[in-house]
Amino acid sequence: MSLTFWNNCNLATMRAGAVMPYGLIPDGALVVEGQTLRWVGPRTEVPADLLERCTTQHDAGGALITPGLIDCHTHLVYGGDRAHEFEMRLQGASYEDIAAQGGGIASTLLATRNARAEELKAQSSVRLQQLLKEGVTTLEIKSGYGLSLMDEGKMLEVARDLGQEHRVSVRTTFLGAHAVPASFAGRADAYIDEVVGMLRELHREGLVDAVDAFCERIAFSPAQVARVFEAASALNLPVKLHAEQLSDSGGAALAASFGALSCDHLEWLSEEGAVAMAQAGSVAVLLPGAFYFLRETRLPPIELLRRLNVPIAVSTDCNPGSSPCTSLLLMLNMACTLFRLTPEEALVGVTRHAAQALGLADRGVLATGHRADFVLWNVKHPAQLSYALGANPCREVVFEGQVR
Ligand code: NIG
Ligand code: FE
Repeated sequence: MSLTFWNNCNLATMRAGAVMPYGLIPDGALVVEGQTLRWVGPRTEVPADLLERCTTQHDAGGALITPGLIDCHTHLVYGGDRAHEFEMRLQGASYEDIAAQGGGIASTLLATRNARAEELKAQSSVRLQQLLKEGVTTLEIKSGYGLSLMDEGKMLEVARDLGQEHRVSVRTTFLGAHAVPASFAGRADAYIDEVVGMLRELHREGLVDAVDAFCERIAFSPAQVARVFEAASALNLPVKLHAEQLSDSGGAALAASFGALSCDHLEWLSEEGAVAMAQAGSVAVLLPGAFYFLRETRLPPIELLRRLNVPIAVSTDCNPGSSPCTSLLLMLNMACTLFRLTPEEALVGVTRHAAQALGLADRGVLATGHRADFVLWNVKHPAQLSYALGANPCREVVFEGQVR
């Protein structure tokens, strides 16, 4: 197979345990073979036999190259919007009040059910393209606004189709336990039976990569979530959880007991929950867009996560209610300004740790044998990616070895 050579660039490899911050390699080079990185290192050290076999050469023009960005928590596929609820919140209503009055997730449920698959895809594709422009090469998309077999299936199929129609890798997550639909009001346990049935069927159709739930007083109890996770485990599907977003329900510890890939939000995470996550190797996915948009004041326990060596990822949480956000670069900035992550932690959070949160060992770093998904940026230093607000220095994206 022919090889492609990229040089005249600085590499932020994001490798674990690198001596240099960001795993930086100044004046670096990459050799790509098909869809895979064949060699990564300083330009002056490229093995001569590999160089000889390179049939294409790319001058990166002094760009900084990072791994392709990974958005590991999104609800990108949904119908309608919730601008009106935004107005209500600005007049004093809380996110939980609105949900209790039949708005919130329930209102997006209606709009999503009412949209035909093609409409849903068209609306979602606009958002996807905004993420792609900023260098996203992998993203997770959850269901959770259908809450019936047919509508959850429609969402997951749209998510899969988006991955076929755009040059991006999509991982689908079943979030049937996102809210209790009106038809099951007061019968959450009966709805959980339904969720378990949906999961088995959607898994059989090959639409599910992972299983999520919303563990919260306005959603499901740990005992109810446990029933969904037991069903997921029986199907060998990995789990993750919306945990400790608005209150401490003990969701993180429960998810950790199922070996969760990640626990997400975590503003109310307790020490006990964090210890359980550390022991299980679960990633803490922080969602500064939701924190900002809901004007939360309680910060996730960053120092505790650092002390326990819990890997931290950062994501948009792109959704119509709590984070209508399609900029992962903006999330880098907010993770630093609001949560006090360092720019290096933030960038690890949308590369290596985001890959870990999705259970993907073949991406998130620039290293031999990993996928050739990477981004050329018009910046000198990786901290600039977290620093600038509203800028998009993305010059070029390489996806599976080919310029996108
Ligand atoms: O991640 N917390 C639950 N789910 C979403 C919000 C869903 C919605 O409001 O539509 C979240 O914040
Ligand atoms: Fe979410």
